[in-house]
Amino acid sequence: MTLIRPVGPDAPATVADLDWPPDRARAFGGSVLELYVGLLEELAHGPTSPQLTTAGVREAVALDVPEGPLADDALLAHLRTIVDHSLRPGSGGFMAYISGAGTVPGALVDLLASGLNANAGGWVLSPAATEVELQLVRYFMTLFGLPGGAGGNLVNGGSLANLSALKLARDRADASVRLDGVRGRPALAFYGSAETHFTVDRAADVLGLGESAVRKVGVDDRLAMRPDDLERLIEADLAAGVVPAAIIATAGTTGTGAIDPIEELADIAARVGAWLHVDAAYGGAIVLSEKLRPLLHGIDRADSITFDAHKWLYAPLISTFLLVRDASALNRSFSAHAAYVEQDRDVADRGSDLGFEGLQLSRSFTALHVWIGLLAHGRAAFARRIEHDVELANWLADRVRATPELELACRPSLSICCYRYRPAGVTDEDYLDRLNTRVMTELQVDGRVFPSNADVQGRAAIRACLVSYRTEAAHLQLLLDLTLEIGARVHAGGIVI
Ligand SMILES: Cc1ncc(COP(=O)(O)O)c(C=O)c1O
Repeated sequence: MTLIRPVGPDAPATVADLDWPPDRARAFGGSVLELYVGLLEELAHGPTSPQLTTAGVREAVALDVPEGPLADDALLAHLRTIVDHSLRPGSGGFMAYISGAGTVPGALVDLLASGLNANAGGWVLSPAATEVELQLVRYFMTLFGLPGGAGGNLVNGGSLANLSALKLARDRADASVRLDGVRGRPALAFYGSAETHFTVDRAADVLGLGESAVRKVGVDDRLAMRPDDLERLIEADLAAGVVPAAIIATAGTTGTGAIDPIEELADIAARVGAWLHVDAAYGGAIVLSEKLRPLLHGIDRADSITFDAHKWLYAPLISTFLLVRDASALNRSFSAHAAYVEQDRDVADRGSDLGFEGLQLSRSFTALHVWIGLLAHGRAAFARRIEHDVELANWLADRVRATPELELACRPSLSICCYRYRPAGVTDEDYLDRLNTRVMTELQVDGRVFPSNADVQGRAAIRACLVSYRTEAAHLQLLLDLTLEIGARVHAGGIVI
């Protein structure tokens, strides 16, 4: 049935250049799907990175924007080139940074999310998208143990979630800052450990407090925050008239996966009236595992939580939860008024406008790929795989311990294992720093596996962070074999001065 009736000859003629007919979409979409399936076939066993140069990639993807349309065959060939010149973070050998593999159902439904083009900033533009997102928020809020009045939404990455959370903290510490700015107001301080993610410093900068407002609390031998050092820094600030605005506990530090003592930090936050933010961007995923969840002990007392679904929940980029204990805080910090978005809610039944509960107004339907991933696999499959990643990190640590020319840089935590290559008889730690840094880079360039680096207590280490559900013990064995092979070559070559 069509709602459209013919109009008179005086109306402007139709311009349909940009409107692909459904049959063409089906044919082209089928070819794109084949390209994706080809990628999937390669991911379990193929190399993690093609050998590339900047100039080579730039040349390969170079194309002038044409005046008229490219033929479908040319478009597909270009897409194939882009795929061929891309890294494979979803492959079994990828262990760098904290970059998840992306679930298959999640990737497939991204087509629908873009096809619907729902703007999840306003309920009226995205009825289902908003309700799916809020359903997801309630699921995780409950799992983390937050109370009934909690809420939250998805934001574009952990950086933005940390910034948003710290804005909530700043606004609670001094409600007048939203309107009047920080000038002339009492100084505010944030407290994170030396291992806290750098986005916290960046947030302090953006919020007008300055990076120096972030106090660096000392860590213990497991690289977790020391509550006694936190108390010492807070006492000094209070004596100087500085307001302790927020304590940032990390559940799974980026470098080594350490978990700060959240419960003890919650006690301190309650005592001094500070906001407790838990950056669980990486480690939050263990909430799905009954076995591992106790490691997050105390997270139910958080005022806010950052949790990246695109890290260890294996969702496609980008989908980060910002969860808050008191949902009304979001509106207090992010409300805005403009005539062009006012609505007469007495007439129309409309739900929450998430564009007024965070920094972003227009928001994409990323909840879909998280939600469908959870439905397609079920909680238990995620829990099993997350537990398996932890088991694999421990297995890797055992293999390191059993290999004379390797040593652990620290005990593995969550799914991260950091180790050092130490050729027999070499005791110069500075030389070993340079050697390990070089070996790590050579491993990445080689591309069969792809670890990254870590600084562990001031020493350079090779770091494997297991958040690809295709990684198995054989990939880890390959990592160690290549470390020894490349390590011996680099050391013997005397390349590292
Ligand atoms: C603990 C932690 N917090 C925040 C971030 C930033 O998150 P995103 O990369 O999603 O912006 C990261 C990134 O690795 C992280 O590990």
